[in-house]
Amino acid sequence: MSHVKGIKSLTGQETEGYFIAVPLTPHMFMTYPLEKVYAKMAAAVELAREQGVEIVGLGAFTSVVGDGGETLHKMTGMPITTGNSYTVATAIEGTLDACDRVGIDRKTATLAVIGATGSIGRCCAEVMGKEFGKTILVGRDFAKTELVAKDIPNAVPTATLDSVIDADVVVTVTSADAPVLLPEHLKQGAVICDVARPRDVSVRVAKERPDVLVIEGGVIEVPGPVDFGLDFGFPEKTAYACMSETFMLALEDRKESFTLGKHVYADQVREMQEMAKRHGFKLAGYRSFERAVSEDQIERVRESRQAAIAVAGS
Ligand SMILES: NC(=O)c1ccc[n+]([C@@H]2O[C@H](COP(=O)([O-])OP(=O)(O)OC[C@H]3O[C@@H](n4cnc5c(N)ncnc54)[C@H](OP(=O)(O)O)[C@@H]3O)[C@@H](O)[C@H]2O)c1
Repeated sequence: MSHVKGIKSLTGQETEGYFIAVPLTPHMFMTYPLEKVYAKMAAAVELAREQGVEIVGLGAFTSVVGDGGETLHKMTGMPITTGNSYTVATAIEGTLDACDRVGIDRKTATLAVIGATGSIGRCCAEVMGKEFGKTILVGRDFAKTELVAKDIPNAVPTATLDSVIDADVVVTVTSADAPVLLPEHLKQGAVICDVARPRDVSVRVAKERPDVLVIEGGVIEVPGPVDFGLDFGFPEKTAYACMSETFMLALEDRKESFTLGKHVYADQVREMQEMAKRHGFKLAGYRSFERAVSEDQIERVRESRQAAIAVAGS
């Protein structure tokens, strides 16, 4: 697709790379025979190798399908990273920052994680669950969701979206190919971080619920005079967190499979946070439904939240 140039760390190190597409839709990724999808991904890795690439990051559904890069790594011998450690790191950082700005007291607030049995959702729930008064874990498979809940204090597993209406803060990160979160699921004044691509939050929320704050997870400012050579719909010099994880590993000359497989560990998340600081990668301003979020929007949500608390208290 393109040659990526000009990634330059605060340390002075530089790197470059390529965007290579595996042109399937999310639905195709999830419904085609897995061997066929792996064969297409392996062909993309070989194309990368021909360009001199030494580490490959899996973007979008290339990391969702199958076993999070393990088979691909075995098939090709190429170091692979899913990008999910830095995605979790930035989803957490963005959500907690949004809570502060909207005036949510985390110790008494309720968090909901939708897609809590998934690679990103589970790690978000494990790390963030400690910060909140209560955590609602939403998964399709109740038994699997119960297992995740065991390791998180005050966590309640559920297989439906019914109790999301009680959540002050929602992190949603399913691999559904259509929106799952609708206006009627959301509490007044809630903060929602939508990490999923395609997004989990219905566009109806933007029109019908001005009282809630929806932010996209994982939009990152990349250091240096970077030129992606490709418009993937973001402002200049910003990229997804999963892409940024690969850029950082390349800057560090770590030709290793960093986040491989479906389990993301809190230690990996911390390591990526430190790496980001060292190289100057940081969260870009909030975006919501392809637009920058204004201070007025944040203030409106803050006021709605306070109004709801005042009504509840009277
Ligand atoms: N913003 C970024 O930088 C970034 C980076 C990487 C990934 N992503 C996105 O993050 C999302 C999740 O990635 P992941 O690696 O964590 O995937 P994953 O490990 O496959 O987990 C997906 C989760 O979604 C659940 N799910 C799937 N279909 C669903 C549906 N129709 N309704 C409700 N829940 C459903 C799964 O439940 P089961 O366990 O029942 O299957 C699972 O809990 C994807 O949309 C991906 O594109 C974004």
